[in-house]
Amino acid sequence: MREVYASLKLFIGGNIMKRITILTGAGMSAESGLSLFRGGNGLWNNYPVEQVATPEGFAANPSLVLEFYNKRRTELLQVEPNDGHRLVASLEEKYAVTVVTQNVDNLHERAGSTNVIHLHGELMKVCSSRNPNDPRCVRTLSSPDLEIKMGDLAADGSQLRPFIVWFGEAVPLMEDAIAAMQGIDAFVIIGTSLNVYPAAGLLHYAPAGVPIYLIDPNDVNATLPSNAIHIRKGASEGMNILINEYLDK
Ligand code: OAD
Repeated sequence: MREVYASLKLFIGGNIMKRITILTGAGMSAESGLSLFRGGNGLWNNYPVEQVATPEGFAANPSLVLEFYNKRRTELLQVEPNDGHRLVASLEEKYAVTVVTQNVDNLHERAGSTNVIHLHGELMKVCSSRNPNDPRCVRTLSSPDLEIKMGDLAADGSQLRPFIVWFGEAVPLMEDAIAAMQGIDAFVIIGTSLNVYPAAGLLHYAPAGVPIYLIDPNDVNATLPSNAIHIRKGASEGMNILINEYLDK
């Protein structure tokens, strides 16, 4: 389905649009005020990852896990997309763009991106704890009911849980993400430490010789191909440089 959508866009107006796939991580939303995961102030420094982001953690203390994601959801409603998100969205004026994000926030969509693959789930959605990927049980929360409590049930009668891919769980949209790497004209990576697989492995699906751009103020945990260009800036400034100095030059 996504491929059909992409090829429709390719021929809009009779022009062949170049295709760009963009992989984003927590650094993309840092300038909006959301936390990173790793490093000094990273979320995983304050909340043990095995307690709040694994099926075992949820089984051991579901209230703690619901509370953790309720808090993240409240934070998300208090922040706005940043210029980096807006510049990513603006690329759709000239390119067929797929955003593959590890972020569970909705800031890409709120900035105007229309083709976003959420590899690690979506904070505003909830699902069944018996079968997290049963689409009949997935729904989007809306104000004022933004918290999940113990006893809130999914359509299959099981406890509701956040629609988040936890460590140790399958990443069902990885196949769509890999498909989005086929035939691309450029691959852009923004604000991810490339520590978490399979998402980090997307890099290896870039067709040989395709330009690769990394926007991140710091080093990442990957050996990039020799043709990759590392723009050592934050997301907004880095996107400006990418657009003005590299794309279409
Ligand atoms: P990390 O916290 O591991 O990495 C964030 C990256 O953003 C780092 O490389 C930073 O240098 C970079 N960065 C910091 N400020 C930036 C800025 N203003 N602009 C651009 N980049 C900036 O976060 P992720 O790589 O996204 O998964 O983490 C991947 C996954 O690990 C997450 O999706 C989450 C986590 O565990 C799950 O919860 C399943």
